[in-house]
Amino acid sequence: MILKLCVPGLMILFLLCSVATAMDQSAADSKPGCRDKCGNVSVPYPFGIDESSCAENQYLFLNCSQSDGHGPEKLWFANIPVLSISVLEGLMVVSIFTAYDCYNQSGAKMKETNLSIHLGQGPYMFSDTRNMFTAIGCDTMGFFSNADVTYAAACISSCDEMVSLAHNSSCSGSGCCQTSIPQGLKSLSILSSSIYNHINVSDFNPCGYAFLADKRTFKASDWQLSGLPDGNASDAVIEWVVETKSCEQAGMNTSSYACRNNTNCNYSKNGQGYRCSCKDGFTGNPYLSPGCQDIDECADRQRYPCKGKCKNTPGNYTCSCPMGMHGDGKTGCQGFGIATIASVTGGTISLVIIGVLLYIILRKLRKVKNFRENGGMVLKHQRVRIFSEAELAKATENYNDHKKLGEGGFGCVYKGVLPDNTQLAVKKFKGVDKAQMNEEFQHEIGMVLQVNHKNVVKLLGLCLQTKVPLLVYEFISNGTLFHHIHDKKSQVLRTWTDRLRVAAETALALEYLHSLANPPMIHGDVKTVNILLDEDGTAKIADFGASVLISPGQTDIATKIQGTFGYLDPEYLMTGNLTVKSDVFSFGVVLVELMTGQKPNSNAKSGEKRNVVQDFISSLENNHLFKILDFEADEEELEEIEVVAELAKRCVNSSGVKRPSMKEVSDELSRLTSLHEDLWGQKNSEETEHLLGKSALSFNENASPSMNEPQMAQTVISLEIENYTNSI
Ligand SMILES: *[C@@H]1O[C@H](CO)[C@@H](O)[C@H](O)[C@H]1NC(C)=O
Ligand SMILES: *[C@@H]1O[C@H](CO)[C@@H](O)[C@H](O)[C@H]1NC(C)=O
Ligand SMILES: *[C@@H]1O[C@H](CO)[C@@H](O)[C@H](O)[C@H]1NC(C)=O
Ligand SMILES: *[C@@H]1O[C@H](CO)[C@@H](O)[C@H](O)[C@H]1NC(C)=O
Ligand SMILES: *[C@@H]1O[C@H](CO)[C@@H](O)[C@H](O)[C@H]1NC(C)=O
Ligand SMILES: *[C@@H]1O[C@H](CO)[C@@H](O)[C@H](O)[C@H]1NC(C)=O
Ligand SMILES: *[C@@H]1O[C@H](CO)[C@@H](O)[C@H](O)[C@H]1NC(C)=O
Ligand SMILES: *[C@@H]1O[C@H](CO)[C@@H](O)[C@H](O)[C@H]1NC(C)=O
Ligand SMILES: *[C@@H]1O[C@H](CO)[C@@H](O)[C@H](O)[C@H]1NC(C)=O
Ligand SMILES: *[C@@H]1O[C@H](CO)[C@@H](O)[C@H](O)[C@H]1NC(C)=O
Ligand SMILES: *[C@@H]1O[C@H](CO)[C@@H](O)[C@H](O)[C@H]1NC(C)=O
Repeated sequence: MILKLCVPGLMILFLLCSVATAMDQSAADSKPGCRDKCGNVSVPYPFGIDESSCAENQYLFLNCSQSDGHGPEKLWFANIPVLSISVLEGLMVVSIFTAYDCYNQSGAKMKETNLSIHLGQGPYMFSDTRNMFTAIGCDTMGFFSNADVTYAAACISSCDEMVSLAHNSSCSGSGCCQTSIPQGLKSLSILSSSIYNHINVSDFNPCGYAFLADKRTFKASDWQLSGLPDGNASDAVIEWVVETKSCEQAGMNTSSYACRNNTNCNYSKNGQGYRCSCKDGFTGNPYLSPGCQDIDECADRQRYPCKGKCKNTPGNYTCSCPMGMHGDGKTGCQGFGIATIASVTGGTISLVIIGVLLYIILRKLRKVKNFRENGGMVLKHQRVRIFSEAELAKATENYNDHKKLGEGGFGCVYKGVLPDNTQLAVKKFKGVDKAQMNEEFQHEIGMVLQVNHKNVVKLLGLCLQTKVPLLVYEFISNGTLFHHIHDKKSQVLRTWTDRLRVAAETALALEYLHSLANPPMIHGDVKTVNILLDEDGTAKIADFGASVLISPGQTDIATKIQGTFGYLDPEYLMTGNLTVKSDVFSFGVVLVELMTGQKPNSNAKSGEKRNVVQDFISSLENNHLFKILDFEADEEELEEIEVVAELAKRCVNSSGVKRPSMKEVSDELSRLTSLHEDLWGQKNSEETEHLLGKSALSFNENASPSMNEPQMAQTVISLEIENYTNSI
């Protein structure tokens, strides 16, 4: 659902990006205050029009004027019309007339035009790579030379019967011939002549033509052998350099050097001078101050693929795989992407991610010995109880199936009772490989164990003897918030006051996690299934360990996309960076779910596809909010509900920076709950009784193994423990 929400966002982002770069380029393509277009032809710097100061030098100052004082403006190079200018290639496409000669039936020359072009003193040459000297006709000899005829060449085309050029766009030899031109040609004389004066072909080919053609655009089929000349022109390509000096002569440090910051100097042998180009990874106009700008590759993942954490560097970017991913460092990581995300459905985390997680751990954890020596100490300091294998086996009746509280991809959670009647939730993991540990991990497990908040499920202890590690949590008797929202028989969330309180408590827990440490501890998988209610309905957040391991020393964390569809922060999906604001988003979705009773990750009513968050926002905007509430609200509560709805809306803002912090959210919710305090205080005793009665019932209903969510906190810590165990 959220993915659907974020796809248009993505598109808009790309759109914005391309608009922005397009604007950048056009804005940066001429000197400030100078026109960058003549008619419909772009005039990029170092070229300029209107004022000589608009061009890099006098030779690159072009004339933009109407031809013969009327019509649209045209760009002129001397008296040759310019069709386009390329800064990147150092080329200019111009339109030149053709030379031709025509004869009548008896072979008398009727018309003739020779062509002579001189490119002048400026830094211009005919492009030897793009131009082809071309002659067209059936009894035609095209001839070309430089002005002082130190160089000359020709091509001959003859055919004795009507051929059609129309069928072949390339110059195939029949009715058309071509030859390449040499480097360093600055002047050109072209003439077209005939050997037999077209006598034998005059009925279908009275004229011959000779001209320069641009390889890229020339099409023989544009020419007709039977046609008569009438101002026929062709495209020719002129190469330019910014100065006719070598890069060394240009003197990189002198003020006349045309290339700005972050550029290469490229010498052109044909142009006999240098041009500038942006260094790899930079873009812009290399001639304009301040020079080429770094490309933010990370903003264009299509062109610069990166499936991991993308970091822009000057002139390049790095793409680091989330820990444990295989990757080539550039495009990123195998086994990561939408396909993987898609395989994570409905709240069960797929095996793929477990594999990934395992790999992460295997790679990260070194120094087994160290941990052996110090790990126990860390644990001791944290006053976590070490359970024996036998103790837990007994408590859970040997992991009897009817003690199973939940089951997930990672393993099972069993209910246990100690001889002193303490209730436990014992999480037992499926087998994993051996691995090593490092100090970093010790620090992290220390951090997890520091978590001590009334709204966070507590880790009571560990069992390190077993082959498979066991984690022991306090037992939370009243099931998940998810259950109470969606099971219509549950009375726990009957009133607005109840819902508000649960929301405020959850917010408090998240605020606590976020402020616990620097960098903050990010939960990473906030959802109603991970919020448990204890016997008196107090919310306790579980599964808080996952992100800790992944977050040493960073405020945002590139991770494999983990989490639950529907609750996932779209920005996180896009960037792969988990931030505290990702938790805020997920919490916003929890608020929506709490108010509307709609599951954010399912296609709700009547099978039609809906986006619960989107629906919520549009109901809010259209003042239909009260139609979609899942509980009965009193008149006087409506205003308050609206405040919370607005808060939820801010939390699910697609842009992380626009979301409030967890502290803001928590403060606001606490403020609202405090308004209820008196009222609630009165009801409290009866309410609690009611809750107690209900809790036994609803939990028993739920205690069957059909609950497919591991109810207790998570994975990463426990897997680490397992490795530790195996290494003992
Ligand atoms: C510029 O305008 C002319 C006619 O007005 C048109 O033939 C030509 O294709 C246009 N060129 C570009 C690059 O749009
Ligand atoms: C541009 O060309 C027009 C007509 O060919 C001419 O009158 C004008 O002086 C030229 N301007 C410049 C700046 O060369
Ligand atoms: C061709 O031109 C010549 C010279 O103008 C003329 O004498 C001759 O009659 C013309 N031939 C034809 C077939 O028009
Ligand atoms: C074209 O060049 C040829 C050969 O140099 C010359 O004989 C002819 O008179 C020229 N024609 C024109 C129209 O200048
Ligand atoms: C065009 O000419 C080339 C070279 O003779 C030939 O290989 C090709 O088949 C021709 N194409 C057509 C459409 O006639
Ligand atoms: C042109 O025709 C004449 C006779 O009409 C012939 O002698 C000559 O060889 C032909 N030339 C060519 C190039 O076919
Ligand atoms: C030259 O241009 C005229 C007018 O556009 C056209 O009629 C004629 O066919 C062209 N000549 C060739 C050889 O294509
Ligand atoms: C330009 O200046 C820098 C430092 O000022 C110097 O290292 C470099 O060699 C100079 N380059 C040239 C081509 O003079
Ligand atoms: C310019 O020179 C640099 C470095 O010598 C080279 O990498 C780049 O490809 C050149 N660019 C062009 C357009 O020739
Ligand atoms: C960018 O980084 C990659 C990998 O580190 C390297 O292969 C590549 O050459 C770099 N590109 C540039 C322009 O420095
Ligand atoms: C190049 O960049 C430096 C700062 O990085 C700046 O001071 C300098 O003015 C720039 N040079 C040019 C030619 O724009």
